[in-house]
Amino acid sequence: MRARTAVIPAAGMGTRFLPATKAVPKELLPILDQPALQLIIDEAAGAGIDHVVVVTSHAKPAIEAYFEPAPEVIAKLRSTGRDALADSLDRVGRDVRISFAYQDEARGLGHAVGCAREAVGDEPFAVLLPDELMGDSSLLAQMIDICERTSGSVVGLKRVPRDDVSAYGVIDPSGPIDSEGVVGVRTMVEKPKVSDAPSDLIIIGRYVLTPDVFDRIEQVQPGAGGEIQLTDALRMQAASGPFHGVLRDIRRYDTGNPLGWLTAVVELALDDPKIGPAFRDWLQERR
Ligand code: G1P
Repeated sequence: MRARTAVIPAAGMGTRFLPATKAVPKELLPILDQPALQLIIDEAAGAGIDHVVVVTSHAKPAIEAYFEPAPEVIAKLRSTGRDALADSLDRVGRDVRISFAYQDEARGLGHAVGCAREAVGDEPFAVLLPDELMGDSSLLAQMIDICERTSGSVVGLKRVPRDDVSAYGVIDPSGPIDSEGVVGVRTMVEKPKVSDAPSDLIIIGRYVLTPDVFDRIEQVQPGAGGEIQLTDALRMQAASGPFHGVLRDIRRYDTGNPLGWLTAVVELALDDPKIGPAFRDWLQERR
């Protein structure tokens, strides 16, 4: 079976962006003129996803408000001939089905994914962490293919300097990485000490998971940081069936902190056909 649903955990407080995130959720901060959340949904749609479950919290009503239809604004735009903008507004929340699940306590990523159980059902599904932006949908599409072919879960991977591994989930590969970037995963550990890390391959915020993970999440005891870690549930899956990682050379931005967010905005602005040239000139002049 092929993953058609994606879960986007978006219930966090956005501490690293306070006070901006006091009223505006981190996931709605703009990357140029798009909320980060929209770019994540577009990436998922580009990989064939047609249902997105946003795990949010009742303290962040703006997330749901973003998906409300806006007929008055759209009519006004059309009446002044701004049809392209009207079209882009009109498609929000309509090109894929959006549903919501709630996580009102910060109990970890595993717990957040568990909150989406009912909305996902008994099917493989993707998880996209909205703190990470990808240049395109190709990694997720490949991961969905591998999950379908192997009937096992798949995680996105990145190689980092050894000293950086302790901020992430780290995999223990079961063999070499093949020409497509695919590698078997024997086991994995969340935020290990550098000296205990099984490799320099970290899990990035893209997962395609078989639905038995929900039972595993229920079995997980609080781990690193006292939280219900998704990595701990995935380790149980890897111990009992096929489990793969995919290492791909794809553009990726960590927008979960102000510097990473700024880097993503600058890069995408430089690429933008409308504002890119003028922005590049301005950057060069001010050096
Ligand atoms: C989470 C996961 C971790 C993964 C990381 C990727 O950690 O728990 O395994 O490597 O996302 O960004 P967090 O960033 O929430 O601490």
